[in-house]
Amino acid sequence: MAKELFKGSVLMGPLPAVLVTSVDAAGKVNVFTVGWTGIACTHPPMVTIAVRKERLSYENIKNTGEFVINLTTVEMLKMTDFCGCRSGRTVDKIKHFGLELDAGSDVNVPSLAKSPVSLECKVRSVTELGSHDLFLAEIVRNKVDKSIIDKDGKFDFAKAGLLAYCHGEYFSLARRPLATFGHSVAKKATRRANHLKRFQGQKKNNDGQ
Ligand SMILES: Cc1cc2nc3c(=O)[nH]c(=O)nc-3n(C[C@H](O)[C@H](O)[C@H](O)COP(=O)(O)O)c2cc1C
Repeated sequence: MAKELFKGSVLMGPLPAVLVTSVDAAGKVNVFTVGWTGIACTHPPMVTIAVRKERLSYENIKNTGEFVINLTTVEMLKMTDFCGCRSGRTVDKIKHFGLELDAGSDVNVPSLAKSPVSLECKVRSVTELGSHDLFLAEIVRNKVDKSIIDKDGKFDFAKAGLLAYCHGEYFSLARRPLATFGHSVAKKATRRANHLKRFQGQKKNNDGQ
């Protein structure tokens, strides 16, 4: 494969385009779009979001030490883009889209009812990096839409129709997964059993997508 050399830049993708909710000192809710997010640790469950200081959300999160990461879906595409183009300083994005909110369980920040997966987070550290500050946070509660949990208690993320972002473009993840974690080293019989268990019945959903 012939490769060209570029100077170092953030050529990483796809990434989830998430909607992060936060509240100000008076409890007013704001929502903004974040692409610079990632899992940082399994135990304790930790995530990062990178936020520019000028965002209203930066102020909210820095002051309260809490936020909620709401995964987005294809259905939420327009609001995901809008909430990343307009600040809560000039428009009430919750009102603009008539967004239904679910009260926080372990944080004082609500989640978006429309989101299939919401992660309630408590900030553990803030690191100044340059254009963005990195918030490292612990996930203290997960809220998952019952309709994407199958009868064995497994999450069916393909069913959720999640949204991804890659270098200025949005993509749909509403497709059948290609394989499961560990399939390359699993024994053949286990592989087949896992495949059948996980993907049976999904083909119908994906036809015509
Ligand atoms: C797809 C997408 C991803 C974005 N990712 C980030 C991000 O990771 N960090 C950030 O500070 N701003 C990011 N933004 C920009 C903010 O969402 C945008 O400036 C927003 O209006 C800030 O809202 P607020 O002032 O209400 O907090 C992103 C925008 C889009 C459209």
